[in-house]
Parts: sequence; structure tokens; C-alpha cells
Amino acid sequence: MILVTGATGGLGHQTIDFLLTTTPAAEIAALVRDIDKATDLIEQGVDVRQADYVDYPALVEAFRGVDKLLLVSAVAFTDRLQQHRNVIDAAKEVGVKHLFYTSIQRSSDFVMPEVTESDLATEAYLKASGLTYTILKNGYYFEGLGYLIGSEVPATEIRFSAGDGKIAFVKRTELAAATAALLTGEGHENQEYTLSGSEAYSFNDIAREFSALAGRLITYKSIEEAPYVAQKVAAGFPDMVATFLAQWGAAAQAGMLAGTSDTVERLLGRQPTSLGEYLKATYFSGN
Ligand SMILES: NC(=O)c1ccc[n+]([C@@H]2O[C@H](COP(=O)([O-])OP(=O)(O)OC[C@H]3O[C@@H](n4cnc5c(N)ncnc54)[C@H](OP(=O)(O)O)[C@@H]3O)[C@@H](O)[C@H]2O)c1
Repeated sequence: MILVTGATGGLGHQTIDFLLTTTPAAEIAALVRDIDKATDLIEQGVDVRQADYVDYPALVEAFRGVDKLLLVSAVAFTDRLQQHRNVIDAAKEVGVKHLFYTSIQRSSDFVMPEVTESDLATEAYLKASGLTYTILKNGYYFEGLGYLIGSEVPATEIRFSAGDGKIAFVKRTELAAATAALLTGEGHENQEYTLSGSEAYSFNDIAREFSALAGRLITYKSIEEAPYVAQKVAAGFPDMVATFLAQWGAAAQAGMLAGTSDTVERLLGRQPTSLGEYLKATYFSGN
């Protein structure tokens, strides 16, 4: 039995969708907080179990009979490490054989508050637990680009605090397909994989792609963190979120998300989505 947590979220649900293409539903379990959000999974025959990462006894009950478990990391601005520890401890208590953890890409030593810190601590805790593990160092989602630079085609200029930093974006569905392949594949015991895109793009590259697609000049201007935060706050983001978004710019500048890897490509058996393809489908689909 393979159990996927975060099954009502983006990555978890998409991973189950891919598992269902190769694995009988009776061998797939889903951990959810709210059963009412999982009716589609129940209808497909997935064994839906309910527990919150903060509820240790419920986790222990939910993990019974599970061989492989995908721990989809908890959201930022919560006590991620304690939640992850609960999942790891509960998995160990009931004899889960292999735990996969969705961490973040780290192509440099940059430590991003709210993300890298708790991921590093979780990885260390998992390795010390004695469980067989696989660490998935997930790249930055293409789907997160809109948070950084807006979800409309920029009028003339992209303003972000990433300097010349590059990001090897990866589409979340492709990450999910790769994750499902790892969960059902052999030989991934005690391994760590960087699941980033095959190509890394600077924000100048992004501006160039936008220009080509829009048929007009769109440029990139790297700005300091403070004016970027002010711009996001003016656009309606809470201060804390705006500051968090600026941190991804700092992470990009520091090369944390720039490393490319062909692991996703190999697991998909094809080239992952390119920047041009993503922008075209996301920003220009009405054209
Ligand atoms: N690499 C990246 O670019 C990137 C971007 C964003 C996030 N992430 C990280 O990757 C994870 C997965 O991404 P995603 O896009 O799938 O996020 P998502 O759509 O927000 O899904 C997160 C899932 O985790 C569940 N969850 C959160 N707290 C929980 C708790 N205390 N107990 C049990 N379940 C809990 C949520 O349950 P509900 O459905 O009940 O809310 C949801 O199903 C995120 O949680 C975050 O750690 C990575």
C-alpha cells in the first residue's frame, strides 16, 4: 500500500492521479484533513484516511498497513518541523517501510527562512529515524511564477528582486508524474534527487520570452527587496507574504534554484515543459 499525504492539495492529488494510471486504486491510500474534499478520490476507490499532521494518534491509525509513504511537506508559516516529525514518528511506530519526503531544491548553501531551515531539519530527522527514505529536492514550480511577477502579461516591464539569478522551474504536474514514478519504481532507497527543470531561466530570459509571445518589448528590471515588497503590498499582498516572495528572489540570486537535473526528464521519458511553452499556455491561452 502506498499512502500519499496532502492528497487534497496540488502535488499530492496530482501524484495520486498518476499512481492511478499504473497501480490498482485498492493499493493507494490518501491522507486528508477534510474527507469532504476527497469525494473524487473515494469514488475512484482510493482508501481515504483522515488525520492532521498535528494529531499524532490519528496519524498512527491512518498509517496502518502502509508500505511506502509520501510525506508532502507542510505549508510555510506553520510549525512545519513538528508536523513532519509527527508523520515520521508515526510512520516508524506502525512499521512503514519507506518514507519519501518533498523537500526543496538546494543548488547552493543559501538558507531560506520558513523553507530551507525546516526542510534541512526534517531531512536530518528522517535520516536519523532509521526509516528507509528518499528525499525529493523539488524545484520551484512554474505555477509559482505568477506570485513573483503577476498573473497578467506584463505591460512593459517585469520588476523583481532576483538580479541575474536563474530558476530551473518545473511544472507541478510533471513533478507529480516523476514522484509517482519514484514511488512505484525500484532502487530509490536512501537516495536524494533534485527534481528541477532541465533548463534554468533568468528573469531576462523570461522577459525575452514574454516579448516574443506578446510581439512587443517587455524588459526586466532587477530592483531591491524593499521596493519589491512595497510593490507587492500595494498590489494587495499581506506584508509577511510580500516579504516571503522577495525571499525567493534572494534565493534565485544566491543560485539556490538554478541547478538543472535530468531526473524529471528521465522519469517522464520526455523533455519537461519549457519556459516558452509554460508562458504561452498560461498567459496567452486566450489569444
Ligand atoms: N517547490 C515549490 O515551488 C513549492 C511551492 C509551494 C509549496 N511547496 C511545498 O510543497 C508542498 C506541496 O505543494 P502543493 O502545491 O501541493 O501545496 P498545496 O496545494 O497547498 O497542498 C498542501 C497539502 O498539504 C496539506 N496539509 C497542510 N497542512 C497539513 C496538516 N497540518 N495536516 C495534514 N495535511 C496538511 C493540505 O491539506 P488541505 O487540502 O486540507 O489544506 C494540502 O492537501 C507545500 O505544502 C509546500 O511545503 C513547494
